[in-house]
Amino acid sequence: MRSVVCGVGGYLPERIVTNDELAKTVDTSDEWIQQRTGIRERRVAAKDETTVDLAHKAAEAALSNAGMTAQDIDLIIIATTTPDLTFPAAATLLQNRMGIHHGIALDIQAVCSGFVYGVATADSYLKNNLGTCALVIGAETFSRILDWQDRTTCVLFGDGAGAMVLKAVPEAEAEGRGVLANRLRADGEHWDKLYVDGGPSTTGTAGYVRMQGREVFRHAVGMISDVVEGAFADSGFTVDDLDWFVPHQANRRIIDGVGKKLNLPAEKVVVTVDRHANTSAASVPLALSEAVGDGRIKRGDLVMLEAMGGGFTWGASLIRW
Ligand code: ACO
Repeated sequence: MRSVVCGVGGYLPERIVTNDELAKTVDTSDEWIQQRTGIRERRVAAKDETTVDLAHKAAEAALSNAGMTAQDIDLIIIATTTPDLTFPAAATLLQNRMGIHHGIALDIQAVCSGFVYGVATADSYLKNNLGTCALVIGAETFSRILDWQDRTTCVLFGDGAGAMVLKAVPEAEAEGRGVLANRLRADGEHWDKLYVDGGPSTTGTAGYVRMQGREVFRHAVGMISDVVEGAFADSGFTVDDLDWFVPHQANRRIIDGVGKKLNLPAEKVVVTVDRHANTSAASVPLALSEAVGDGRIKRGDLVMLEAMGGGFTWGASLIRW
C-alpha cells in the first residue's frame, strides 16, 4: 500500500501580534527579532479558543480540500504539546466533535517534530491495515505555555493548526504518489536544552517553555540535514529531484542554514516563519496548506518535510504529492 495525500488545510487564529506590540511589554525590538529569527508577527488564540478548536477548523479545511467527509476517516492523529486536557487525547475530543464513532484516535508528543512523527506513524498504520484513511493534524496553543515576561522565548512562538488527509491506496494504483520515505530520530540527552518546567506528575501545572537557544541552534542544522539526506538515500531520489522543501518554521537562520548545507535553491523552500513564527507541531502542515492553496505544490511534485524540536526529536518525510 501507499499512503497518498488527498488534501491539506490550515487555520490561524484571528489575532495578530506584531513584534512592536511585544516590545511594549518586554525589553525587545522589531529589529532584534527580525534580524535573529526572521519573525515579523505571530497569531495568538482567543481566550476561549482551544487546541481542539483550531484542529477542528484545520481538519474541516483538509477534508474539503480532499473532497471527503468526516465519515471517511478511521484514524486521527493529533501532534500537540498543548492538548486541551491531560487526558483524554485531543484526537478523541476532535473525533467526538466530528461525529466519528469508528476507528482509532491518538495524540503524539514530539513537540515541533510532532507532525513529521504523525505522518510517519499514520503511514505505518495504513500500511499495516490499522486504518484506511487518516487525518494527521499538528495543532498548538503554544501561547498558553509561554512565559510572557521571558524575552528569550516569548518572541519566538505562535498558535495555529494544519491538517493532512492520507489515504491507503494499492501501490499499483498510486501512480508513484504517496509517502516514499520517513526518517525519525530522538536523543533524550538533550532534553534540558528545550523543555517545559511543569507537568501533571511533577508540579501539577502545565509549566512554561525554557530554552537554551544557542544550544538548540548549534544542533539544528546538522540533525535536520542528516535525516533529510537519510530520506533521500532511502528513496533513491536526490536534492536535484526535489520540487519543494517544507521545513519546520522555527527560525529563518536555521532554514537558510539547512538550505545552504543541502544545496537547495531558495525558491524551492516554503517559508512562513515571518508571519506565523514557530507554531511547533502546526508549522509544517500550515506551510504545506499555504503552498498547496496558492498553487505552488501540485500533484506529482516531490516534497520534503522536516522538523526538529524538544527532546531532541527530529525527522523528515519525502512525499510524491
Ligand atoms: N530581544 C532583545 N534581546 C534579546 C532577546 C530579545 N527577544 N532575547 C535575547 N536577547 C539578548 C540576550 O539576553 C543576549 O544579551 P546579552 O548579550 O546581553 O547577554 C543577546 O540578546 C544575545 O543572546 P543569544 O541567545 O546569544 O542570541 P542568539 O543570537 O543566539 O539568538 C535565538 C537567540 C534567536 C533564540 C537563537 O539562539 C535561536 O534562534 N536559537 C534557536 C532556537 C529556536 O529556534 N527555538 C525554537 C524552538 S526549537 C525548534 O523549534 C527547532
